[in-house]
Amino acid sequence: MNFQEFSAEHRAALEETLRSQLGPVSVPLLQQAMGHLLGLGKLFRPLMALAVARACGQDDIGKLVPWVTPLELIHTFTLIHDDLPCMDDASLRRGVPAVHIQFDEALAVLAGDALANYAYLQLARNDNGLDAARRMALVESAARATHLVVEGQVLDLEGERRELSLDELKELHRRKTGALFSTTCEFGAILAGCDADVVSQFGRLGSEIGLAFQIRDDLLSLTSTDSEMGKTLATDIEKNKSTFPRLLSVDGAEQYLEDVLRGVDDSINSMGLVQPDVLRDIAAAAGHRSH
Ligand code: IPE
Ligand code: IPE
Ligand code: MG
Ligand code: MG
Repeated sequence: MNFQEFSAEHRAALEETLRSQLGPVSVPLLQQAMGHLLGLGKLFRPLMALAVARACGQDDIGKLVPWVTPLELIHTFTLIHDDLPCMDDASLRRGVPAVHIQFDEALAVLAGDALANYAYLQLARNDNGLDAARRMALVESAARATHLVVEGQVLDLEGERRELSLDELKELHRRKTGALFSTTCEFGAILAGCDADVVSQFGRLGSEIGLAFQIRDDLLSLTSTDSEMGKTLATDIEKNKSTFPRLLSVDGAEQYLEDVLRGVDDSINSMGLVQPDVLRDIAAAAGHRSH
């Protein structure tokens, strides 16, 4: 099976669960703002978590859906805040007006806060069939990643004021994007019942896939268009951000991306996985995607 077929199989259930996880919001305006972007993205992170569980031999992938959607809630919260005028000042996201444009800045801040909190609410709930030890492992992994994303965002803003070194930029990307990818892979392994060593191995793999994903994003910011990507692209250039193509040139960034992807593929091949097909395809898509 490839990524496209896997996505077609699970996307509807992921979207429905995302909607149902917003069920208890009792202030309609907040619910609208929280739901404005939900389900409109690629759902790359929850799909990748499910692909890791499959790679580890988990058969009934469908029953894991409620445990991987919190990754999308956290991701969406980071995007809503990332687009704010005080950060990237972007007005288009997922093909629709950013939350602060559709509503206002205060509501965008609050909707982001609320989505992050809801993610942990879903993970902490004890009524949907996962033992307490695994729920705690998911909470810890997600909380660590969320903190690293915030650190990455601070480094990203610093990178507008001075040119970062290549090592600093890798650290930035590993935090702002790699950390949630790392947790995404850890989620799949935890849900599949893998032991702590294997979970850590997947965490390292996720970080590398996230690095590839972000380098590709930097490249697409230069070569794609707002309508193809469904988001405002000009901010990297306007804000003088440190990015891979800026530091290495486009050719250098493409070459570096291929090196990272080769390392990822080698790691997947060396892990002795039961069904690595979809995971391998997703990792390649992270680096070669067109939007
Ligand atoms: C966008 O992530 C932010 C980055 C880390 C580059 P995605 O490209 O996964 O965005 P959506 O979720 O599909 O909108
Ligand atoms: C957003 O990063 C990723 C987050 C961690 C919030 P970017 O600012 O580089 O990505 P886009 O281009 O807005 O999606
Ligand atoms: Mg940003
Ligand atoms: Mg941005």
